Amino acid sequence: MSSLRTLSTLLLLPLAGCLSMEEPTQSIRSGVFGQAPSGEDIHWYELRNSNGMIARVHNWGATLYELHIPSAGGRIADVVLGFDDMEGYLSGDNQYFGCTAGRYANRIANGRFSIGDNEYQLATNNDPNHLHGGARGLDKVIWSAASSGMDSVSFSYTSPDGDEGYPGEVSIVVSYTLTEADVLVIEYEAETTAPTHLNLTHHSYFNLSGAGSDTVLDHELQLFASRYTPTDDTLIPTGETGPISGTPLDFRTPTALRGGAEALASSAALGIDHNFLIEGAQGALRTAAYLHDPVSRRSMTVHTTEPGLQVYTGNFLFGQTGKGGKTYAHRSAVCLETQHYPDSPNHLGFPTTLLLPGETYTHHTEYRFAW
Ligand code: GLA
Repeated sequence: MSSLRTLSTLLLLPLAGCLSMEEPTQSIRSGVFGQAPSGEDIHWYELRNSNGMIARVHNWGATLYELHIPSAGGRIADVVLGFDDMEGYLSGDNQYFGCTAGRYANRIANGRFSIGDNEYQLATNNDPNHLHGGARGLDKVIWSAASSGMDSVSFSYTSPDGDEGYPGEVSIVVSYTLTEADVLVIEYEAETTAPTHLNLTHHSYFNLSGAGSDTVLDHELQLFASRYTPTDDTLIPTGETGPISGTPLDFRTPTALRGGAEALASSAALGIDHNFLIEGAQGALRTAAYLHDPVSRRSMTVHTTEPGLQVYTGNFLFGQTGKGGKTYAHRSAVCLETQHYPDSPNHLGFPTTLLLPGETYTHHTEYRFAW
């Protein structure tokens, strides 16, 4: 329990109200983003670096809602999908934009798992399965925010025993740090009071040309993976792993997303929505993916300690209106979600997502930018 408690203790400074809007170089800027359904204020927090990057986060769902990246041509673009106000975040247009997804990001078959002799039934919000923590997952709750130095904001939340059907009270801290090396670091820690399953991820939708640009089909993706988890028609893994060689999912060298997304357009996923087995040892920080936009020439590499990466080409985006009135068309963004494999609680052959009392869940992911 110690490390989480230490972190929580360090983070007691409430940001809103004690920060100066006049001295952005002296303190993290912050303000009121809007109101939760309860009427409680939701606050935004801003991280900047001296190279021109700006990240803005808010404490509804511990969400990244803006990420401004320069380009070689001197233009700055906001490369993540999101909304300007809480109305957007609370609407059906919000498909987990930029949120912290959990308790179990991705799907659990029929919302069921067993631990020992105990069977659990979770909310089934993605018929017939459980998706991203259920009807009221971690993306739809108010987190407590605190700062840690000038370059980091942390959010903490305690999910009660029985939340969406999950056993155990789980205490979670997720922190966003923006470095001078142009890296957005996202770190997670969690502890539980009873055996449970936990799988947290970050759900940003990226378009390196800028959110609201046409599609990401010309973005080139390289994956440091040679196997994936084949799924059934409800996007639940069969339990096998298969080679990506010879499939539309072969991204072992930088390859435009177009071919894979179009080849899979008539599948249940409507495009790429698959989990890849990242090479190297789970727990070690290693490269998972490289994404390059030939138009803006921005690139992003993803590094993680997690065993898997869900690549999702925004197949369910339907033209909703986002920040600045921009339209978020079908396939106009790609999610690179570091996580465990889907439905791991029901596949003994997959790396385990079981978290026991006395253990600490840790997960470290970096999105490194270049332009
Ligand atoms: C994840 C899933 C997708 C979809 C999106 C949210 O990335 O893999 O199938 O559910 O979330 O729309």
